[in-house]
Amino acid sequence: MTDQPLALYVHWPFCVSKCPYCDFNSHVRESVDQERWRAAMLADLAYEAAQLPGRRLGSVFFGGGTPSLMPPATVAAVLDAAAGHWAMSPDVEITLEANPSSVEAARFADLARAGVNRVSLGLQALDDDALRLLGRAHDVGEGLAALNVAQAVFRRVSFDLIYARPEQSLPAWEAELARALSFGTEHLSLYQLTVEPGTRFATLAAKGELVLPDGDAAAALFEATQAMTAAAGLPRYEVSNHARPGAESRHNLTYWRYGDYAGVGPGAHGRRGGVATVRRKKPENWLAAVDRNGHGGEAEEALDPRDRATEALLMGLRLREGIVPDPAVVDEAAVERLVAQGLLERRGTRIATTEAGILLLDGILVQLARD
Ligand SMILES: C[S@@+](CC[C@H](N)C(=O)[O-])C[C@H]1O[C@@H](n2cnc3c(N)ncnc32)[C@H](O)[C@@H]1O
Ligand code: SF4
Repeated sequence: MTDQPLALYVHWPFCVSKCPYCDFNSHVRESVDQERWRAAMLADLAYEAAQLPGRRLGSVFFGGGTPSLMPPATVAAVLDAAAGHWAMSPDVEITLEANPSSVEAARFADLARAGVNRVSLGLQALDDDALRLLGRAHDVGEGLAALNVAQAVFRRVSFDLIYARPEQSLPAWEAELARALSFGTEHLSLYQLTVEPGTRFATLAAKGELVLPDGDAAAALFEATQAMTAAAGLPRYEVSNHARPGAESRHNLTYWRYGDYAGVGPGAHGRRGGVATVRRKKPENWLAAVDRNGHGGEAEEALDPRDRATEALLMGLRLREGIVPDPAVVDEAAVERLVAQGLLERRGTRIATTEAGILLLDGILVQLARD
């Protein structure tokens, strides 16, 4: 049994409204039977814990959907149960994704009392027109008020912004990012807008009614982002994630370093000792599965060593620290070629993507992975 700490992901699939760019497993429901959901979440967790005995929990992440809509008592019940199933690291990181509305900000203190010690706030933009375009329910004022409350309540705060939005100029993004950096959080997630299949944005893009910055413009925005965050002391440690050294998301590092994580709740994925797990995606189907089977699992698949090494490569090359390549899956001649092209760099026994390489990550992975 490994002594690597385990990560626990808990998915809460409900949102107040569906954002037009989002393809996460998130659903709008008129009402949620909170008692039933709490009991089902605890059952799903107990099942997963039984498969992972004797582990130490290093992090918990409540993701969504909008977990800031969870009753704080449910968050507390999940954390109490987790502490009963596993030993908790003394410095366990407990993150919750929050939407920045005033209703949710009013619950932050209760969520902190429940045990949450880190919040990741979905500000998305510091521009009211952009927030309208993104279909967000909050404006900049409400978002910043929520950030203020979060910074007063939680020791660790991160927030998300989406950039490379339609018609976003380089100077406008530089001004927005400078403002974002001035708030002094230890962590920032900065995502380039992507048009995901099946979303409202995909329909608009297909009709030519939503046009994103082209490759060169997006690359210029990315480069400015790297320069400004590094200068502010929050360099990139992953493709879209920036932190003060030491303030990285420990939970997400577990994914990228290919450690074990338990995933509970609708649609949650997990990796336990080489077994890939996935839960039923639709909330009602997950709930019915828990009633029927005592857990919401849809499938469990033992991955062979090659699949695991390939997954570890895909995840590890997202990180600035890179990865020690496994010769069974990494084509050494491709490494040489990509290093010569300035897309990969070597650091001792490790390989890592350069800034130029990050923009071409998918192509790099195709070249690196042996057939
Ligand atoms: C699980 S989502 C949402 C968390 C929270 N419900 C919210 O909306 O604030 C995590 C993050 O992914 C990012 N995201 C989602 N869809 C995206 C897209 N199509 N392009 C870029 N970023 C996206 C957003 O920044 C979002 O905050
Ligand atoms: S971006 Fe967040 S609030 Fe919007 S639909 Fe997706 S999960 Fe829900």
